Amino acid sequence: EKGGYEHFMLKEIHEQPEALRRFLVGRLNDESVHLEELNLNPEEIKSYSRIFIVACGTAYHSGLVGKYVIEKLVRIPVEVDIASEFRYRQPLIDESTLVIVVSQSGETADTLAALREAQGRGAKVVAITNVVGSTIAREADEVMYLRVGPEIAVASTKAYTAMVMAFYLFALYLGQIRGTLDTEEIQKAIAALKQIPEQVKWIIENTESEIQKLAEQFTKHENAFFIGRSVDYTVSMEGSLKLKEISYIHAEAYAAGELKHGTLALITNGVPVIALVTQESVYEKMLSNVQEVRAREAWVIAVALEGDEEIKKSAENVLYIPQTMELFTSVLAIIPLQLLAYYVARLRGCDVDQPRNLAKSVTVE
Ligand code: F6R
Repeated sequence: EKGGYEHFMLKEIHEQPEALRRFLVGRLNDESVHLEELNLNPEEIKSYSRIFIVACGTAYHSGLVGKYVIEKLVRIPVEVDIASEFRYRQPLIDESTLVIVVSQSGETADTLAALREAQGRGAKVVAITNVVGSTIAREADEVMYLRVGPEIAVASTKAYTAMVMAFYLFALYLGQIRGTLDTEEIQKAIAALKQIPEQVKWIIENTESEIQKLAEQFTKHENAFFIGRSVDYTVSMEGSLKLKEISYIHAEAYAAGELKHGTLALITNGVPVIALVTQESVYEKMLSNVQEVRAREAWVIAVALEGDEEIKKSAENVLYIPQTMELFTSVLAIIPLQLLAYYVARLRGCDVDQPRNLAKSVTVE
């Protein structure tokens, strides 16, 4: 059932190119995005004044990517909330608010309660989920399915990358209907999206053995930091969660610009810092953050765009991902971090597929 892999997690990481390809089928052609499955009429789409994205854990992290992408491409304000916070804080939503709940399992108790809270306040709820017939799928007004197949490992991998793809597509769809994107921009974005499954495959093929070597050095550490700016910051959070939940190494994610406001005090000789450096618009700023941590003798592992030679001067190790549109790097940049978490956890003898204290589906709050 593990298809020759030692763990479900590794199998699911490797399934991503195929899973993401399946996610895209029928949802776009060269010219436009097709999400008629959502049954949202254009007038309604034009009426949204605000979007809320609500989820837990990894699904929440996909929502953070969603915020960057929707705000940039559609210019609608987006708020992202953790379901257990949203449900108890009397959220300010009304009929012109679209609420998107994200849940791989479709059964997470807090996310389901958030969905009901939103509907009770008159908002329409779109669910992004993997499980057909799940409670969230049944109760939501509209559903977009991830189609990645069963995810068995507790640590989410292929569902996360599909959730991120769902937000890319959804943002393009809104932009197409609300007219914030012209035909040329949409075509360019679609061309970039179509390459993603192949690019994910490339990353796995080109980084896996290097990451296995890095993992040997990594296992002896008890603390790690993940830093990034813009969408790279959201990927840092997801990378950090993956590492801590399966390897039990304490990890924290920071917006790189925040380091000086406290955390830099913890950056000393040899401390691993995973720096995401894929955002061209903040490249110079990020480079100087990398130099700052290097100056404190941190061990810097960078995730950077293919062709970036500059970063090699400041990072000991560089894991490359292929070039894509700036907003779409997150789905690629997480792949090496999933692999790193996996190999470190395996070397530490952890129960990779079933980390201590955790359950795949959290049906109690
Ligand atoms: C971490 C992980 C969890 C889930 C969270 C929500 O790898 O998988 O953080 O993302 O428990 O689960 P779903 O998406 O099923 O609502």
